[in-house]
Amino acid sequence: MVSYKELGLVNTREMFAKAVKGGYAIPAYNFNNMEQLQAIILACAQTKSPVILQCSAGARKYANQTMLRYMAQGAVQMSREEGANIPIALHLDHGDSYDLCVSCIENGFSSVMIDASHLKFEENIALTKKVVEYAHKHDVTVEAELGRLAGIEDDVVAAKSIYTQPEDVEKFVKGSGCDSLAISIGTSHGAYKFKPEQCKRNAQGVLEPPELRFDILAECERRLPGFPIVLHGASSVIIEYVQQINQYGGKMKDAVGIPEDQLRRAAASAVCKINIDSDGRLAMTAAIRKALHDAPGEFDPRKYLGPARDELIKLMKHKNEAVLGSAGKA
Ligand code: G3H
Ligand code: 13P
Ligand code: ZN
Repeated sequence: MVSYKELGLVNTREMFAKAVKGGYAIPAYNFNNMEQLQAIILACAQTKSPVILQCSAGARKYANQTMLRYMAQGAVQMSREEGANIPIALHLDHGDSYDLCVSCIENGFSSVMIDASHLKFEENIALTKKVVEYAHKHDVTVEAELGRLAGIEDDVVAAKSIYTQPEDVEKFVKGSGCDSLAISIGTSHGAYKFKPEQCKRNAQGVLEPPELRFDILAECERRLPGFPIVLHGASSVIIEYVQQINQYGGKMKDAVGIPEDQLRRAAASAVCKINIDSDGRLAMTAAIRKALHDAPGEFDPRKYLGPARDELIKLMKHKNEAVLGSAGKA
């Protein structure tokens, strides 16, 4: 057993309590490789933002569990060398079983998500409770999910979103003992969050999505005062990246995400964790496509992964400073 405390990580309890009180959200950035992790650490150290390093089961398989543990430890060390004493959590994203959560906790994760949102209500409570009982013995925090987001949640695929029913949240939180709750208010995973027929098109032909269900969020907040709420599927799908990808040979038609003003509004409420994966993927891919196009003779990976990392740093600093409000809160 390797405790996250030995790696210099923290769980999410204190960072969430401060974020809920302060009206901002902690960024939860997904990563799979070194460049992404370096970018997260540099962006958050430079903006003095607390951060959640977020790993899906797929990312864990890709990076290797042992490698991950040392990467997280290295990330903490690197942030200190940058002169920033920021709180850093390592979180399992969309854990789909008790065993996976236990294995992550035994290997240095400070927080886990048990995503049993596809199960029946009582089964979701029971599985979440089982994970909570194990996790809390090790001072690890647990995120659960109620309601379902459309799109791909690792190996779990939902065709359409099923909004969280606010009348369920008190019973769920009380029954499961979870530390934070992901809710479904209209976001979804990936770069195609809405179908074109759900959107309007502006004069430039860019899709404008329908508004999130802030009424559901407000009702959940009313029923769970001060309780940390999590927003998944919260990438904005930044249009400049999509256009750059398409300009340099990509094919991403009608990609659409959550506008920044809606994320700002969510962050100011009880939403204290905002999950961002797709925007990072888009930033990297746009930069790599351009770098390879501009220098077709290059074959040193640093020549395209370096610009990709720089773009990620820019993106994450912008999110922390101008969207989530987490800058300066470490
Ligand atoms: O919610 C899903 C995350 O974007 C992780 O995606 O399973 O492809 O690593 P992944
Ligand atoms: P995006 O696909 O919108 O970045 O959402 C990521 C996410 O929710 C990870 O759990
Ligand atoms: Zn998610």
